[in-house]
Order: sequence, then structure tokens, then C-alpha cells
Amino acid sequence: MTQAQERIHHSGLRNKIMTAEQAAAFVQNGMLVGVSGFTGAGHPKVLPAAIAEKAKAEHAQGKPFTIGLISGASTAAECDGVLAEANALKFRSPYQSDSATRIHINKGNIAYHDAHLSHIEQQVRLGFYGAMDVAIIEVVGITAEGKLIPSMSIGTNNEWLKSAKKIILEINTVQPEKLEGMHDIINDIGTPPNRQPIMITDPNQRVGSAYLECDLDKIVAIVLTHANDRNSKFTEPDATSKLIAERMIDFFAYEVKQGRLPKNLLPLQSGVGNVANAVLTALQDSPFENLMGYTEVLQDGMLDLILSGKMKSASATALSFSPAALQRFNENIDFLRSKIVLRPQELTNHPELIRRLGVISMNAMIEADIYGNVNSTHIMGTKMMNGIGGSGDFTRNASFSFFVTPSVAKNGTISCIVPMVSHHDHTEHDVMFVVTEQGLADLRGKSPRQRAKLMIENCAHPDYRDMLQDYYDRAEKAGGLHTPHLLMEALSWHQRFVDTGDMRVK
Ligand code: COA
Repeated sequence: MTQAQERIHHSGLRNKIMTAEQAAAFVQNGMLVGVSGFTGAGHPKVLPAAIAEKAKAEHAQGKPFTIGLISGASTAAECDGVLAEANALKFRSPYQSDSATRIHINKGNIAYHDAHLSHIEQQVRLGFYGAMDVAIIEVVGITAEGKLIPSMSIGTNNEWLKSAKKIILEINTVQPEKLEGMHDIINDIGTPPNRQPIMITDPNQRVGSAYLECDLDKIVAIVLTHANDRNSKFTEPDATSKLIAERMIDFFAYEVKQGRLPKNLLPLQSGVGNVANAVLTALQDSPFENLMGYTEVLQDGMLDLILSGKMKSASATALSFSPAALQRFNENIDFLRSKIVLRPQELTNHPELIRRLGVISMNAMIEADIYGNVNSTHIMGTKMMNGIGGSGDFTRNASFSFFVTPSVAKNGTISCIVPMVSHHDHTEHDVMFVVTEQGLADLRGKSPRQRAKLMIENCAHPDYRDMLQDYYDRAEKAGGLHTPHLLMEALSWHQRFVDTGDMRVK
């Protein structure tokens, strides 16, 4: 028996092993397919390429072949990428970050439904997207009782295994068997009105099972793989990110002094990107001890906080590491098993839990306006970047909600603080703090006019401050009202960039 076959302890399931090409036969034109995968971790590695090849062969014969694809969150080039490049996707939800997929979404070839990550499981359960035909889920192994040992992410796997008519498993021998026991899964949280409270009162608490479960008769194929996750290279925080991080650490210290935050802060949620990682790196040298994480994705920064003893535990739905951090994770996996809990995204992003735990959310953005509305998804109001991900789940329900960004983008030709955001993801009602390298705007309890002053003075880049002040002054003079705007001019900065490549007036 090979090492991969040995991962299947249930003897009855071993005869389901086949090649990816054979398993791809279960995926037909027009089907809705649910895949595992979250931030490039735990997605299927070989089935998507086999489906893409099938699509290309069908297209070559003049036949249609497209599928709808739903995941937990982003996958990688060998899943989203190959399918998009083969023109095999007609529908995609709820989040992606793949460059080929992004191109097809923006061309209108893929109908992309950008959704809050905490919503998607219940929506599939209720059949909002039609019936799910096939689930393709990466696992680490199968126990003798037929329970599935989850991989580096849980995401929506628990739901896809229940909803899908047929299941294909990829057993990936790159993923360590020692992941067993790190997960905490409630396989079914119920559908309203039959839902009970989820009794998690501490990020490290376990309330479910360490295994995924499914009807074994639905498993039609098992494919063996040995392939790495996305494992993107870690980018060292640059000077701008470090400044943003410093401002946030100073602010945390101030809030502790004011008695609004405990000395070990509140459970931290950290979004994706350079700045988010810089904040976690900066916490390493901060005075705060016994930190806790309640986040979606656990990346290098949080891993190192746990390994150094600064953070006592963290709950997440995915482990998304650089190659170097993956090595540290594997070397310390026995220690980390009691420190890290991986849960379904329906729980990591659950409003009930985020509110109860009082999470501090920290997410990156594309732009904010002078009133504190935030755009996380659309470049110049029209081009989809990735999607809202879990930022909405956390921002609305956090007890402290931060958005971070450099004050300018593209060599200063774009101001990330604008008169009006070109797309709204997070409204002024949810956004409490905006932080750039210029400073921090504390928007709590402020009126729109007070917010505008803080955003312009504290967050905008000096090159754009006078322009923003001028816009605001003229809007106020022109009638003002509660939220002063010049409607014909509010998006003119974006239009100027589209026309001239620079938001500044030359
Ligand atoms: N206007 C136009 N382009 C802008 C911009 C702006 N205001 N601000 C940044 N950009 C460009 C950058 O120049 C960069 O372009 P490039 O890819 O051509 O180099 C790109 O947008 C990404 O910017 P970057 O500074 O590298 O951002 P990031 O990696 O920190 O990502 C988001 C920022 C907003 C795209 C990312 O955080 C995201 O997708 N967020 C939504 C989901 C989320 O918050 N997930 C976590 C929730 S739990």
C-alpha cells in the first residue's frame, strides 16, 4: 500500500480511488460544484485541472461546458485559475483573488456573486443557488469509521459535504496527518427557526467534533494528491505599513489606559495583506501579553505571536502560511494543536460570536471617503478586485473596527481618501477607525462634519489635503445639510484618474 492509500483507514472506501481524469467524469456541463479552499489553503489541487481539460476538449468539439463554482473563499491558480483560463466558469461565489478569474469576472464572462462569507453556508443550505451537484473536498485522511480528517482550512466543507449530491475527496499527503485534532466542527448549526445559541465564550473553546462527516454512500471518487498550498512569499512590512502599525499599537495603549480595552486587548481579527501582517509583527514588540486571536485566516504574523508566547491561542478557519512559516508550523505542530482551533467559516465569522467576544477587527481597504465609508472591493468603482470576504462580517460586529491603508496608491497618483467612495462595502455606521501612515481618525460618536475634519487632517496625504478641504468647504457653502456633498463633483477625482492617470489637478 502506498503512503497515500494508508491515509484511508476505512477499507471500504479504498476501492473508490481513481485518477483525477476518471473522477472528472462526475462533473458535467451546467453543474454547481462546491470546492474546499480558503485563502489558498486546503483547496483541491488536481481535480480542477482535470475538469478544465475536459472543458477544453468539449469546447474544441463545439460543445458547451461551464460550471458554477462555490468555495469557502479564495483558492489558487490550480483551482480558480485553470478553470477560468479554460473558460469553464459561468458562476463564482463568494470570494476569489486569482488574476485569471479576476479578468474574466471583469469582462463579464463569469457571473460573480460577491457575498459575506458568514452568509454563504446557510444560503446554499436553503438552495439560494440551486442544488449543489458535486463537492470536491481536500482532506488529510479518513478514519476507520469513515470520518474525514480536515486539511489546512475548513471554510464551508461541512456544508458542502451535506448539500452536495456527490462527493469527490482529494487526499493530500503533503498536509501533515498531525493536523488531526486541531479542528472544531459543528457539522450542522441548524436553520432558523430551529437554531440554538452557539456556546463559544472563549476563542480557544471547543464545542464540536474534530472531524468532518458525510454520508459515505455519496463518495463517488477519491483522488490522491501530493501538492502544496498556495504558500505565498511573506513580504517584509515596508516603512508605510510599519508607521500604520505603530499608530495602531499607540492607540491600543491609549484605550487600555482609558479602561476601554483590557490589558491583553480583545480577540484580534486580522485581514489579508501587507499592513495587516505589519500590525501583527509590531505586536511582537508591544507591551501586550496573553493576546487572543479570533480571525478568519491565520497567517505568518499570528503564528509567530503564538510561537513566541505573546498570543495564548487563536481561532481561525484557515492556515495560510509562507513557505518559511509553514516549516515553523510543521516543526511545532504538537505544541500548536492546543493553541489553534480551526472552525467552519459560519462560526469564525458568526455575528453572534464576534459580538460576544468583542473582537477587534483590522482590515485593509481600497479607499475611504471623508465621511468614513469604505470601499474594499472595486478599483475606480467598477473593477472587481477580490471581494468583500469576511470584512463585512467582522466590521459590523466588532467592538473596535479598524480600516487601514497607505494614504496614496500608484506612486501618489491616487488618494485613498476621497470625497465619496466609488463603491460602498462598509458604511459610516460600521467603520470606527481609519488609519493611514499619516495618522488615525477616531470616528466614534462623530457627526459627518466632524468626521470629515478628522479624515482630512489625520488620514489624507498632504498632497491631497487642500483639495479635500476645498471640496468640503464648497460643499458646505453650497447648502451643506447633514452630509455636505457636491453631487456633480463627488466622483470627479476617480473620473480624472481614468482620464489622465492622476487624481491631482495638473
Ligand atoms: N485605488 C485604486 N487602486 C488602489 C487603491 C485605490 N485607492 N489602493 C490600492 N490600490 C491598488 C494597489 O496599487 C495594488 O495594485 P497592484 O495590484 O496593481 O499592485 C492593489 O490595489 C492592491 O493594493 P495593496 O496595497 O497591495 O493592498 P492589499 O494587498 O493590502 O489588499 C485589498 C487590499 C482591499 C484589495 C484586500 O485587503 C482585500 O481584498 N480586501 C477585501 C477582503 C478582506 O478584507 N478580507 C479580509 C477579511 S477577514
